[in-house]
Amino acid sequence: MLPSRAVVVRKLPQLPHRLWCTSAFGSGACSRLVLGIETSCDDTGAAVLDETGAILGESLHSQKEVHLRSGGIIPTVAQQLHKEHIARVVQEAMDRSGVSPRQLSAVATTVKPGLALSLGIGLKFSLEFVRHHNKPFIPIHHMEAHALTVRMLQPVAFPFLVLLISGGHSLLAVARGVSDFLLLGQTLDEAPGDTLDKVARRLSLLKHPHCSTLSGGQAIEHLAKEGDRSKFPFRTPMGQNYDCDFSFAGLRNQVTMTIMKKETEEGIEQGSLLSCVNDIAAATQHAVAAHLAKRTHRAILFCKAKGLLPACSPTLVVSGGVASNQYIRKALAIITEATGVNLLCPPAKFCTDNGVMIAWNGVERLREGTGILPHNVDVSYEPKAPLGVDITAEVKAAAIKVPSVRLKITS
Ligand code: KG4
Ligand code: ZN
Repeated sequence: MLPSRAVVVRKLPQLPHRLWCTSAFGSGACSRLVLGIETSCDDTGAAVLDETGAILGESLHSQKEVHLRSGGIIPTVAQQLHKEHIARVVQEAMDRSGVSPRQLSAVATTVKPGLALSLGIGLKFSLEFVRHHNKPFIPIHHMEAHALTVRMLQPVAFPFLVLLISGGHSLLAVARGVSDFLLLGQTLDEAPGDTLDKVARRLSLLKHPHCSTLSGGQAIEHLAKEGDRSKFPFRTPMGQNYDCDFSFAGLRNQVTMTIMKKETEEGIEQGSLLSCVNDIAAATQHAVAAHLAKRTHRAILFCKAKGLLPACSPTLVVSGGVASNQYIRKALAIITEATGVNLLCPPAKFCTDNGVMIAWNGVERLREGTGILPHNVDVSYEPKAPLGVDITAEVKAAAIKVPSVRLKITS
């Protein structure tokens, strides 16, 4: 039985940050309004939020279908699709909110990190928009936005530990403020979502009748429910490295070798579905979950040893596309239960990329009064952008041994 405090996701009362004004909703109480724009990868997202975190309007165009068919994200294709959809997506979010550009307090847009060609489209559109409407511009770090989303849903105070896991990232950090992070560990090669996507492709899961419209991660999670992970005991990566970094490439190699062996045994070619896809999916998902759980466990112990989190009721926030995986959430819940930490995961809709999280980050900046630029500013995008102050060497030097915790998870 999982502890009831695991995976707490609830809509708490909105924060009382209202101002008096005579715009937006007529004369009376209203709050500052932010348009958020996201194009860092393969989702074109936009949303309008007020500063209490209420979503007034949103729109999202996902390119998932296209990239699934082509076997991965082709940057020029992603760029073209962002180009085709951004104006409509932003207009839709604005129309649904009933807010006019004149009423906006600022426009917040992802400018780092991400695919250069994708970031470029969102940034170009946003700069034209703010220049045209004479609005302040707030450049957003995509990973900061993932980390802060939870604060839109409930009042989580700084500092808290955050695990961000997506198709492009795997990192552990302490969030000390809106733009104040300590990086404890990150992936040395690929991200868990990327690994799951590649394993799913190698297994040709698009040909599986239940998985034809699912992302790799979703397909693995779906099939794993009917699988027996003990059939393929993959090694958990980096067992001898006592730090909080991640590595998934070696695990993917283990899985690929197993798939090749099974193809030979079953006498089928690459591209056909193996009879044991469920078991391979379950074993892969478990190895990913165990790796994430182990590194997160060490991060919690490190934070406790260094006093980086509140002694009373410390919190772990998990976000990013892979955080929507229920099995991984349960693995993390076992660790947080064992260490006396609250686990908070935003609902799946807010874990994957969207315009809401960018608008919310804009709201946080606006409240703090930092990182707000004039409409005529010249800003560049940054495909690579570290998150916060890197203290991974300190974590490595501490070499904390993590006690073994049994991850007994029922789907
Ligand atoms: O955060 P996100 O929308 O985009 C990036 O910034 O990468 O995450 C997308 C990633 C993909 O790799 C996808 O396979 C993975 O998240 N993902 C999942 C699940 N849903 C999406 N991975 C595991 N289980 C899921 N249910
Ligand atoms: Zn993301």
